[in-house]
Amino acid sequence: MSDKLPDNQAFSKTIIKWYRDNPRDLPWRDSQDPYIIWLSEIILQQTRVAQGMPYFYKFSEAYPTVKDLALAPEEEVLRLWQGLGYYSRARNLHFCAKFIWHELDGKFPDNYEDLLKLKGVGSYTASAIASFAFGEAKAVVDGNVFRVLARVFGIHTDIASGKAKKEFEALANGLIPQDNPGEFNQAMMDFGSRQCTPRNPDCGACPLKSSCFAYANDLVQALPVKIKKTKVKERKIHYLVLKCEDNWVWKKRNTGDIWAGLYDFPTEDIKTIVDKNEDLKALESIPPQKEYLHLLSHQRLKVQFSEIRLEKSSRDSLQKLCEEQELALVEEDKIDYLAKPKLIVNYLKDQGI
Ligand code: ADE
Repeated sequence: MSDKLPDNQAFSKTIIKWYRDNPRDLPWRDSQDPYIIWLSEIILQQTRVAQGMPYFYKFSEAYPTVKDLALAPEEEVLRLWQGLGYYSRARNLHFCAKFIWHELDGKFPDNYEDLLKLKGVGSYTASAIASFAFGEAKAVVDGNVFRVLARVFGIHTDIASGKAKKEFEALANGLIPQDNPGEFNQAMMDFGSRQCTPRNPDCGACPLKSSCFAYANDLVQALPVKIKKTKVKERKIHYLVLKCEDNWVWKKRNTGDIWAGLYDFPTEDIKTIVDKNEDLKALESIPPQKEYLHLLSHQRLKVQFSEIRLEKSSRDSLQKLCEEQELALVEEDKIDYLAKPKLIVNYLKDQGI
């Protein structure tokens, strides 16, 4: 056993000192604006700091205020988000901006409870905004914080279990200093991602090593406990890319779909409709050239693309077919403007687009 776990004050003092000694210049940290902080946190829910930075700049430059985001077209917001994945976050971002602008008179919620009511804002994001922008003492708890607390305090609760969040939040809320909650939360985030890393942390250099339960008991690799249970399903998709000269047939995904609002292609079953239509004349059919593997949180997609190039004379009939089937005919030089899943972007790259 570790002979002495840190008391609450010693813990927060040590973490904050470490944070001051290991500064990191992150653009959203210069801001007290809850909108800018919210933007950064939603992006960082989805990706690491280094990958999130260009997206933060793109969004904060395109939409410097909640009004700018609220008044932007959804397609443009999704296009800016392209590459981050999990597009419901971008849709929620846009939804909330519109809600704040139209329903809350443009006034960003200024406390934890009201922040929590925003779509897509959970306890982590609400705590981050409440503490950074408003000095409210609410502790952030995410994977990084689970790890730090499980190791330092020797907590063996499965962090994938339902009760873990409550238990760790209660502990973290007992540690957070009332007079400096924002800096404590920033420090926990950075300490978890840079010092108390998942694999091979440099415990020799850690300011908490003399009071860390895991270090004293050789449990650094074993903590936190995480029992995997999500089963990943495999799904096959076979797209049909229909082209007539420079025009490509696209499908806009419907609401309720993980890719809602994004563009991909019709699937191969549309081929029977194409084959039956005597006004559509195929110049060339190209079978799949390779299989694309795409990993989502609960699905493993195996994707193929067939291609049919139609004769120039098929153009008007193809347009008609698109109208009947709720598809879009898009000129090649406009494809870049469409918001697309990463997997489709990868395919287009292989096509030289
Ligand atoms: N991860 C999530 N939020 C963060 C923040 N504000 N700073 C650094 N990393 C983060």
